[in-house]
Amino acid sequence: MEWKAKWITNSNEIGDVCPVFRKDWAVSERVAKAELVITALGVYEAFLNGQRVSQDVLMPGWTAYDKRLQYQIYDITELLHSENRLEITVGKGWFSSPMPGWMDTADKARREKRPRGVLAEIRLSFENDREEVIATDASWLWGESRIRFSELYDGEFCDACFVTEKWEQAAVLDWSYEILIPQEGEPICEMECVSAKEIIRTPAGEVLIDFGQEVTGYVEISLAAKAGDMVSILHGEVLDKAGNFYNENYRSAKAALTYICRDGQQRWHPELTFFGFRYIKLEEYPVEPALDQFKAIVVYSRIRKTGTLKCSNPKVNQLFSNIFWGQKGNYLDVPTDCPQRDERLGWTGDAQVFVKAASYNYDVERFFRKWMRDMAADQRENGAIGQVIPDYLPEGGPSSAWGDAAVIIPWQIYLTYGNRKVLKDQFASMKKWVDYITSATTTPYLWTGGEHFGDWLGLDAPIGSYKGSSREDFIATAYYAYSTGILIKAGKVIGQDVSEYEKLYRNIVKAFRKAYPEYKTQTEHILAVHFRLAEDPQKTADDLAERILADGCQIRTGFVGTPYILHVLSEFGHNDLAYALFLREEYPSWLFSVRQGATTIWEHWDGIMENGDFWSPDMNSFNHYAYGAVADWVYEKAAGICLLEDAPGFSRVRIHPMPDKRLDWLEASIETRNGKIRSCWKYEDHGIRYEISVPVEAEIQIGQKVMIVKPGEYIFWD
Ligand code: BGC
Repeated sequence: MEWKAKWITNSNEIGDVCPVFRKDWAVSERVAKAELVITALGVYEAFLNGQRVSQDVLMPGWTAYDKRLQYQIYDITELLHSENRLEITVGKGWFSSPMPGWMDTADKARREKRPRGVLAEIRLSFENDREEVIATDASWLWGESRIRFSELYDGEFCDACFVTEKWEQAAVLDWSYEILIPQEGEPICEMECVSAKEIIRTPAGEVLIDFGQEVTGYVEISLAAKAGDMVSILHGEVLDKAGNFYNENYRSAKAALTYICRDGQQRWHPELTFFGFRYIKLEEYPVEPALDQFKAIVVYSRIRKTGTLKCSNPKVNQLFSNIFWGQKGNYLDVPTDCPQRDERLGWTGDAQVFVKAASYNYDVERFFRKWMRDMAADQRENGAIGQVIPDYLPEGGPSSAWGDAAVIIPWQIYLTYGNRKVLKDQFASMKKWVDYITSATTTPYLWTGGEHFGDWLGLDAPIGSYKGSSREDFIATAYYAYSTGILIKAGKVIGQDVSEYEKLYRNIVKAFRKAYPEYKTQTEHILAVHFRLAEDPQKTADDLAERILADGCQIRTGFVGTPYILHVLSEFGHNDLAYALFLREEYPSWLFSVRQGATTIWEHWDGIMENGDFWSPDMNSFNHYAYGAVADWVYEKAAGICLLEDAPGFSRVRIHPMPDKRLDWLEASIETRNGKIRSCWKYEDHGIRYEISVPVEAEIQIGQKVMIVKPGEYIFWD
């Protein structure tokens, strides 16, 4: 695109205050169409004649800004008057907030120094065919806005009494045009509203508002106040054992809001930041709080819900709800680990383990296409993939199972939605990742050496470690094989010569089998079977089952083993054990957190322990979706909706429900690119009743019986 606009910025330093840029203009002719093309260095909120130009928020979103910056185009025809004023306020957002919060790096210091700026064009088409462009340049004015502070971790401070008195000419900024790309991802929007459920007065004398649900977004307050009255709010996810406010687990993120009221009835919410929270604490509040003064506005990428999961057990239904909320709370332009503490980064491992469930729950094709391009853009010269994307930890080395996101995610997005383009676009990056491992390992055909996260948060971790006991080289090599295998399949789909990688794959498998004749942990067994590396997968799965029983019928896995454990059990004749783990309510289990009151998925199986103590303040997010990956087992095994590799996008489907009588019934559906698939089973007096509807030809297996059916709705009994 040809840009007339110049990048502009504030002409002098104003510290943390957010600048507002302004343009006044008049139109005398009849306008056929008016558009605002806009982007910013930071996050912006644009108002035309006092009205927001769109429902999108926190735009232009988060990309690998040094290489890619999205611009948006909004139709503003309806907002135009004869005299017009456009005002654009810019906050630091992801562009220059001090991220990550828990350590100082040279790259963070570099990003913090970046200026805030705007690039915008108002494109007017008149009915008489004349066209005019009003573009940002030195004629635009800027001033200090009423947003006196705004950062991602620390929150926002808005002084509604502040009046911008000094307007100065904007400075033209030398910044790249090459990085500009049209909006690629799903825009970030205000998607839902959650009303306040309860006003709590805690034993410590605090006043809290409970929204009853952990969300990501911000609170909106409506109150009548006097000019200068102050509102001051902190955010928290859970209460402590005594029922008091708690947010030590946000670590250095202050997650604070301050608002100085103006006179009269008013409504306010922060504009350029967000929080992860269920509770807010009113540190200062000028009037008697009432529930209807508070709303939680839920903000996430505009992804469409495509999956449903329901069953007869209310606790399991709460788990399903937690999984969906966990996804919404962390799919804010980038798949993040968590939305609350001084982190909120695009951790590749978390995204990778959850992508399959994510792609059934919601339509995330566009969301991931964009993020994958950022991944490719931020891929290091040697092919390494950073721990987070956008790569805000460039000093950190790549880890197995994290960097493998480069291969696993495009493959899953291709399988779920059937669009080969994602493979074409990502293939070079996928290949570079596999080649990176080949070049980085200290032992050919294994992945030895390097720094890895291992089976992160595995329950078999030695005291004092976050990493489970599975051998790092074992996991790394297993993923090396897995990614190489996917690369081969992907290459074949798009007609690439992959013979070299086929040879590599055979060698990795051979080397793996030789190096690891025994499996020492649950996760090692799981990977060996799930990645089809074990010579005897049935025996390995049987050994796994035995081991789980010996471990007290408990899961000992972390981020790496957990997503696959139930799949392996169900596939290899241990479906009853899979259900036993799935339905277990004591620690450690998925339902333990439900019993402890979770409304999203926790980072730790024991984020809040049986006795009410917290796991630790240091690494204890209550909205970390990774373990929610269990949803894909529910779709694929419990309900039996199987995505076939030779029928991407569910162009054909296999349905093989695996019921268990500890549930009376279960139902799952997915709205696929080829129509809606639904599978439901129910225990009745004279057997199990199955209701299955398929929009495509399907192979249906009920018990031992297999049949091929045409699109339609079916009822079977077993
Ligand atoms: C994040 C994780 C992430 C991990 C890497 C944590 O701080 O929150 O979810 O994957 O670091 O080990």
